[in-house]
Amino acid sequence: MRILVTGGAGFIGSHIVDAFVEAGHDVAVVDNLSTGRRSNVNREARLYEVDIHAREFERIVADFRPEVISHHAAQASVKVGQADPVHDLEVNGGGTARVCALAIQYGVRKIVYASSGGTVYGEPQTLPVPEGHPIAPRSNYGASKYVGELYVELAARTAGIEFTTFRYGNAFGPRQDPHGEAGVVAIFTGLMLAGQPCTIDGDGEQRKDYLYVADVARANLLALEAGNGLVANIGTGVGTTVNEIYRVLSEATGNTVPPRHGPPRPGDVRNFWLDCTRAREVLGWQPEVSFEEGIRRTVEAFRAAAGAR
Ligand SMILES: NC(=O)c1ccc[n+]([C@@H]2O[C@H](COP(=O)([O-])OP(=O)(O)OC[C@H]3O[C@@H](n4cnc5c(N)ncnc54)[C@H](O)[C@@H]3O)[C@@H](O)[C@H]2O)c1
Repeated sequence: MRILVTGGAGFIGSHIVDAFVEAGHDVAVVDNLSTGRRSNVNREARLYEVDIHAREFERIVADFRPEVISHHAAQASVKVGQADPVHDLEVNGGGTARVCALAIQYGVRKIVYASSGGTVYGEPQTLPVPEGHPIAPRSNYGASKYVGELYVELAARTAGIEFTTFRYGNAFGPRQDPHGEAGVVAIFTGLMLAGQPCTIDGDGEQRKDYLYVADVARANLLALEAGNGLVANIGTGVGTTVNEIYRVLSEATGNTVPPRHGPPRPGDVRNFWLDCTRAREVLGWQPEVSFEEGIRRTVEAFRAAAGAR
């Protein structure tokens, strides 16, 4: 199958590209490398260093004629979204509208859209959070990711495009940026391997849904052939505290430097995990990599990457 992955040089997108290539698909990547890296992209995939807003993006879709577009390009930082809401909406809302328009124009069968379970629902009214939970984002990023969902559903309703929308929990794993402001696993792994102290926000008892990235990629593989019209949470269904992450990572890295404690993050949701029953029922998907195993693989990959530098 010919599949175009936007954002395929990024953290999650590059693992999805690997899974597609491994399954024998013909994969093209469109990525402007704003946060992604050329070195993340599987050698079997064609990389176009192009912005999804650029005119050239249309030529790539017209030439490659993908059957599926896996849309993962985004402004993916809550912090950047707060600092620059217009840019955030342009990339996440406008960019997705463009992907949908080109999909309709060039006869793409299906769009798989990466939304955000951690931000579109806002403060949870029930735990775990099901897909029917009210949509009440508390950040510009959460709002713009939801705008993207609306455009994808519009393309389905008005032009008959198939779609699957995934609302991911907090993904972690190899290639996540340790220098970003989000992604506690990557940040702590980078610091521990460098022998630096980690700063735990608040008391560290905040509990979120952390999912190993290979499980995210597997959901995307299943969505190529199933789940039309599906909006599904992709997480573990359980919460893990920052203190637990710190402990498991310390064991895996051999860290002995004690943590610091900083103030709690303003506006941070304290407890959050996703009900993933729907993905299991419709796609037969459930996470297969335990948290401890995911951490072990992450530390190994970060060690190898540090050694290669
Ligand atoms: N990381 C998570 O836990 C998480 C959770 C929920 C949803 N998501 C979503 O998953 C997707 C991937 O996130 P990620 O964590 O891998 O982030 P990432 O920043 O590593 O990946 C995003 C990719 O998109 C590219 N990109 C950004 N703007 C672009 C543009 N205008 N044109 C072309 N390419 C562009 C970047 O260079 C990068 O490679 C995003 O859509 C994000 O909103 C991520």
